[in-house]
Order: sequence, then structure tokens, then C-alpha cells
Amino acid sequence: MKTFYITTAIDYVNGSPHLGHAYEKVLTDVIARFRRMMGDDVYFLTGTDEHGQKIQQSAQAQGIEPQAYVDSIAPEFRTMCEKLEISNDDFIRTTEPRHKKVVCELLQQLFDKGEIYKAEYQGYYSTRQEQFLQDKDRNEDGTWPEIYGEVSEITESNYFFKLGAYQEWLVDHIKTNTDFIFPRYRAKQVLEFLSEPLNDLCISRPKERLAWGIPLPFDPEFVTYVWFDALTNYYSAVADKKDLWPASFHVIGKDILVPPHAVYWPIMLQACGLPIPQSILAHGWWSINGAKMSKSTGNFVEPAEFVDQFGVDALRYFLIREMSVGQDSDFSMDQFLVRYNSELANNLGNLVNRTLNMTNRFADATVPEPAEGGEPEATLRAAWQKTHEEVVPLFEQFQFNVGLERAMSFITATNAYIEQRAPWKLGKSQDPADQALLRTALAHMAEALRLGSTLLQAVTPGSVAKIQGVLGYEAGSDWQAELVWDHRLTGNAVAKNCILFPRPEKKS
Ligand code: MSP
Repeated sequence: MKTFYITTAIDYVNGSPHLGHAYEKVLTDVIARFRRMMGDDVYFLTGTDEHGQKIQQSAQAQGIEPQAYVDSIAPEFRTMCEKLEISNDDFIRTTEPRHKKVVCELLQQLFDKGEIYKAEYQGYYSTRQEQFLQDKDRNEDGTWPEIYGEVSEITESNYFFKLGAYQEWLVDHIKTNTDFIFPRYRAKQVLEFLSEPLNDLCISRPKERLAWGIPLPFDPEFVTYVWFDALTNYYSAVADKKDLWPASFHVIGKDILVPPHAVYWPIMLQACGLPIPQSILAHGWWSINGAKMSKSTGNFVEPAEFVDQFGVDALRYFLIREMSVGQDSDFSMDQFLVRYNSELANNLGNLVNRTLNMTNRFADATVPEPAEGGEPEATLRAAWQKTHEEVVPLFEQFQFNVGLERAMSFITATNAYIEQRAPWKLGKSQDPADQALLRTALAHMAEALRLGSTLLQAVTPGSVAKIQGVLGYEAGSDWQAELVWDHRLTGNAVAKNCILFPRPEKKS
């Protein structure tokens, strides 16, 4: 079986991690965990992008050497991953020797093959985007779009990579491999970009303009263009584990699909004679309170702090529940609290509390053996069947938000079942029929809780493990086998109580 090798974009360390970085890690982690649960052998890579102009400028602003600067920020990204309970197998930094070595090897190989040549360039350059511009990039009134920042006219010698030679091949690949770009509608954007002739890519920067980069192996007066360096991380991290390549899945934001991931990267690989990744998933962007997130204006969520305040699963759940993969979404505290209270605390948390409470009160803290029951039990079991059948394919198609909504509806249905059976009333009756029904109801509650929560496992793994713990249950390694309604909890001793999602404290 080929390993499912999945990656995130590697983050620039020119500032602290923000909600967008957190989302991408969590989304990728949910896919990785889900694939593992479905039986795949998964390898998961994330990391940091540490060279280039942006980093050099941030270091300068702090008056320290770039290496000291990246060494001070990269750990924040690593810590964020730990706090978010990201299940990555490796974390690569582009300043590591293992990475630089592979970048140099690929460059040398392309240079030796004649795929890289030196030429004089005269034209416009955007420092902010670290990119050469053409007249077609201008606004209609002749000015430069704001995203480019300051644009200067320069003349310099540089090294170019013959991208253009691979244009037809790439167009053909995208057209014939419909799973190459997800969501599919984004492929159109790539093909539109490729409908214009592709210019060769400048892959060097003269040292005097940018010192902070990997020196070209064939000309140390130049450093490597940051995108050529960064993209190579996906390959350099596994270069000594050749059976992992090609990657199965690159998860990235929509802003870096065209041209870096959908054009430069496949062409770089093809030119090196390496297989290209199977799929690229481009996710949408988060705004905060309807506006672009910005640390300076305070419109910012610090992921690590947020986790300390509300718990890791509250954030993971919100990010996955709120955003439809591929689309943009907005984060607001109000919306977060609505979901936290109505779905996590008052729905799932409440079901956990009631189940433990009543099993303690009426069954000596032991899950009783059920009977067949009546119509309410049959309805609940049928609701499970339907939920189970719907949710797994939704997750397979990356429709995690819809899958979570269905799983939560099943939790709601279980709470409604409890209202209907009212075990607190049955508990007061001495009638043996009522006592039997009480046992059946308690067993159904526990089984529905076990199953409903198991569906959330990729998204809120810690909480699911906690729920299993308080139900006196240890799940097996075959997730799909866990999804069978079979009252396997019968006879288990349950805990007294468990506060999964405490009432959030108001921020002062
Ligand atoms: N270093 C490059 C990626 C190189 S990959 C070989 C980069 N870094 S970044 O720090 O600017 O962005 C990292 C990832 O975070 C990107 O996939 C980007 O789309 C994503 N996000 C940045 N801001 C975001 C939001 N506001 N919302 C969601 N994702 C966002 O680009």
C-alpha cells in the first residue's frame, strides 16, 4: 500500500502564528487522522519557510542576524502545532542542512541539464512579493496594484529556469487528471493562467540585494529564489525515504495555488525527472470580524492563547465546523460562542453529563444490558444507521462541516430520545416493565454517545478519548469497526462525571 503522504504549506516566520496558520494545520490534521482511521498508512509533514526578503527585513527591523531571528520565531510554530494536537510525523525548517542539500542537488541537476540559464533582466521588481513584474500586471491606470508594494525598475543578471517548455505538458496534465486540483473549480483559474505564454522563472537573486538565502551551487554570487527553495521542502523532507515520494496531498491556501503550487512546483519536478504530487487542495481564507486579520489593529486571534482559554477541541471543532473547505469564512467571538455553547457544551457535553449521571443514579454506575425496546429505540438506531452511512462519505469528500453537522444532529436526536424516555421518571417506578425500559434507555444513551462521539474523532480526538474513558471503554484500532451499534459497553463501569466543555470565562 502506498503511504498517504500529506503536507501543509510551510509558514513564513516573519511574525507569530495566526488563525490562518492554525486552520491549515488543523484541516490537514483532520484529513491525516481521518485517512489513518480509514486504514491508510499516513505520513504528515509541516514546517517553516525561513529564507527570503520578508525574513531578512524582519530580522533587520529587530537588529539581529536572520539566523538568530528565525531561531527565535520557528519554535512558536512548533509549539502551536503541539498545542493544536497536530499529528505531524516531521517538521521541516528550510534553514536545516538536510533541506539546503537537496535544494542544491536539484538546482545543480537542472543547471547541468541546461534547464537553467543566465540572462540579463531589465524590468520591474516588487520587493514585497519578491517577484518580477510585467506591464500586464499593472492597473488600468498604469499604477501597480497595492499587493506589490513598492515597485522599482532594475537591470541585473540572473538565472532563469525554462518553465515555458513545460506549459503544454502541464495544461494536458491538469485537463486529464481531474483530481489534481481540489476544489475542481480552482483548476479553471490555473488553466486561465496557463492560457497566456509562460515566462521562464527567475530563480536567483544577486547576493548584494538579498543575502538571506541558499547560495546557488553553481554561482555563489547569487542566492536561490525563495519559492524554489520553499517548494522543495516537500521533497527534501523525505528525500531519504524515497518510497514516500510523490506526495499524495498538498494542503495550501488559495493565495499560493497559482502560480507557485500549481505551476512552478509540478514543472520543477517534471524537469528533474521526479513524479508530481497527486492532489493539491486549496482552502479559503479566514477574516476576523469581517475584516482582514491584522496584529497592529488588534483584529487578531493568537491560536495558542485561544487554546489556553477555551481548550484545543473547542478551536479545532469551530474551525472545521464553520468553514466549508475551499470557501472563505469569518471568525467572530460571538459566532464561536454560539457554536461552543449550543453544539459542544449544551448538546454533546450535556449528553455526556446525563449519561454518566443517570447511569450512576439508576444502574450503580454500570451500563446495563438492553432489551429491544420500542419505537423510540428503533428510531434512534435507524437515525444512527443513516448518520453513519452519510458522514463517512462526506468526510471522504472533505465536506467536514456538513459531516459534523450530521454527527451533531445525531447527538441532538439522542438528547431528544432521553427527553422522550425520561429515565428520571422510569427510575421512580417499581413496575418491572418500567425498570426494564430504564435499563434499555440507559444502554441506548451510552451506545448512542459512544457512536456519535466516535464520528468526531478526527476533529476532536482528545474529547473523544475522554468520553471513551468515562464510559470505561477502550476503543480498538479499527475505526470503522467502532461504528457498529452492538452495545459493547454492557457491564462497563462509568465515571461519576466529566466536564468536557466548561462554561467559558468572559475575557476581562
Ligand atoms: N511560506 C509560504 C508558503 C510556502 S509553501 C511551500 C507562505 N507562508 S504564509 O505564512 O504566508 O502562509 C502559510 C499558509 O497559511 C498559506 O497556505 C496561506 O494561504 C495560509 N494563510 C495565511 N493567511 C490565512 C488566512 N487568513 N486564512 C486561511 N489561511 C491563511 O505563503
